[in-house]
Order: sequence, then C-alpha cells, then structure tokens
Amino acid sequence: MKEKISNHLSEIQDFKAESIEKIEAFRIKYLGSKGLLKQLFSEFKEIDPSLKKEIGQSLNNLRNAANDKINELKDALDNNLSEKKVYGDLTRPGESIELGARHPISIVKNQIIEVFSRIGFTVSEGPEIEDDWHNFTALNLPEYHPARDMQDTFFIETDPDILLRTHTSSVQVRYMESHKPPIRTISPGRVFRNEDISARSHCIFHQIEGLYIDTDVSFADLKQTLLYFTKEMFGKSKIRLRPSYFPFTEPSAEVDIYWGLETETDYKITKGTGWLEIMGCGMVDPNVLKNADIDPEKYTGYAFGMGIERIAMLLYQIPDIRMFYENDIRFLEQFKSEI
Ligand code: PHE
Repeated sequence: MKEKISNHLSEIQDFKAESIEKIEAFRIKYLGSKGLLKQLFSEFKEIDPSLKKEIGQSLNNLRNAANDKINELKDALDNNLSEKKVYGDLTRPGESIELGARHPISIVKNQIIEVFSRIGFTVSEGPEIEDDWHNFTALNLPEYHPARDMQDTFFIETDPDILLRTHTSSVQVRYMESHKPPIRTISPGRVFRNEDISARSHCIFHQIEGLYIDTDVSFADLKQTLLYFTKEMFGKSKIRLRPSYFPFTEPSAEVDIYWGLETETDYKITKGTGWLEIMGCGMVDPNVLKNADIDPEKYTGYAFGMGIERIAMLLYQIPDIRMFYENDIRFLEQFKSEI
C-alpha cells in the first residue's frame, strides 16, 4: 500500500495538462466518486491498525497533492487565457487614437492670457450669477441710470438684485475689494445679455477685461499696452482710439485696429474701411475706485474689455457666432492642430 501511494504521488506531481478537459479527467481519476482515492480509502479500512497512522497521513497527503495540482493547473490555464485577452491578435493593425481639439474660444482666451501675463497681469475669476452692486452700482451705474439699458440684463427669478453678469467688470470690482494696489489683472469669463441671437451676436458670450491700478497710471500707459497687445495678438501695429462712453471709465474710448484691405474678406469684415473695432477702454472713473475703497487722489488706473468670440471670428475667419455653441464636430475638429 505504501508503495502504491508513493507511486501515485509522483504520478500526480509529474502530471501536466493544458486544457480544462484534461484537468477534469485528472480530477475524476483521483478525486471522483469512483476515483483512486476513494478506492484507497476503502482499502485503508482493512489494513493492520498499527500501520493506520502512517498510511492515513500519507493518504491525506496524496489527496492534498491532487487538489493542489488541480488548482495549480487551473490557475496556469486562467493566466494563459487572460494573457491572450490582453495581447489579442498581435498581427492586427493598430487602432488609431482620436485626438481631441480645444474649443476655439479656449484657444483664443489662452492666447490673450499669455500675451498679458508676459507684462505682469494675473488672471482673476468671479461668479456668473452676480448681485446688482458688483455688476452695476459699484461701476458707477446707480439704479435708474440710463446706461443700464446698454446691457440688457437677465435677472434671476423676480429678485432685481440677483442677475447674470453682463460683463466681467464685476470681477474687477471684486478684485479691487480684496486686493490693494498695485493691481494688474485680467478677468476672462462667460457673460450674458438678453439680446436676439444672430450671426453677429448671442445672448451668451465670453469676455476678457483688464484692469491696471497704481500711482501715476496714465492714458499713455493704456495706449502702449493696447499697442503691445494688438502687435502680439494680430501682428498689426496700427490702432486708433475713438472717443466713447462707458459709465465706469472717464475718458473712454473704443479701439480699432487697421486690418487692411488686401483680400475680399478684409473688405467684408471691415465694411470696406480697413478698420475693425476690437474693444472698449478708458481711465477708471474715480467713483469706481472710491466704491472699492481705493483712494482716487493717490491712485489712477485704466481698464479695457473685449469679446473673445469677436477676436476668434477675426483670427479664424468664422462667419457666424452661433458656430461656437453648436458643437458640430466638423467645426471643432478643424482646431486640432492649434495649442
Ligand atoms: N465692460 C464693457 C462692456 O462689457 C467693456 C469695457 C471694459 C469698457 C472696461 C471699458 C473699460 O462692454
């Protein structure tokens, strides 16, 4: 009996199988209800009691060895299968990975931020849902001021104090309230105006507004900054300032750049004049500084603001503002090569 057991043990230890069927046949042979172990255990009942302890132990060993072998073979088989799943058919042609594209609004926004950060401007952000103070009153637009009509406003429910910001000048108010001069910041963000949607205007669009406050800031500094910006952004160095009106700046101006009249598109986008309006600007009104607890006797500042869509439309010759919001993949895919 001892010899039989040790023969079976080495048989079990040497056994190899690469298929589940062979492993199952092995299991039946040793551990099945009519298997070898069953047989050996019934023979065990007949043996001399003095040998029982030793033989019982080696029988248990044999059964454990069979169980271990089965588990080991099954594990190896599983690993083999999952390796195959991972690697698949190595001769298949590769699948191409689709590259995403940044939205043109983000591309242009990042470019503008980059240009201004090179001359020391930080980026500031604020809430899209604003209160009357930050969007209007602090900006020298008290209640019933006629200039409030310049920006048709969406109010939140019936509360006239809570609204969707109509410009990111509101962020500049917040920034002035929480920082001491010198201040040099640009505020990019989404703004909302209750306007009819057309090829040229939308009720949701994006702005970047800039604010610079320090001692002795003059209109000449503003002009120089604008010139630097238009050169860096458009490669054009001819700008003109037209007198304009904004309640929060005095004096105020609108900035045109000379785009040129070389192509038919130039004629179209500049309406035959060669000039294009790109932003509003001016010297911060002393009342605005006072509202933010900044002493207008000591500090002066300039501010400017532009629409990102408008700049993106110019740079990429996009004819209709609505294209930015439709998320048509054929439109968006064209910006893949941009940063
Ligand atoms: N806030 C103005 C607008 O939305 C733009 C602007 C900003 C003008 C700063 C002058 C100075 O139209």
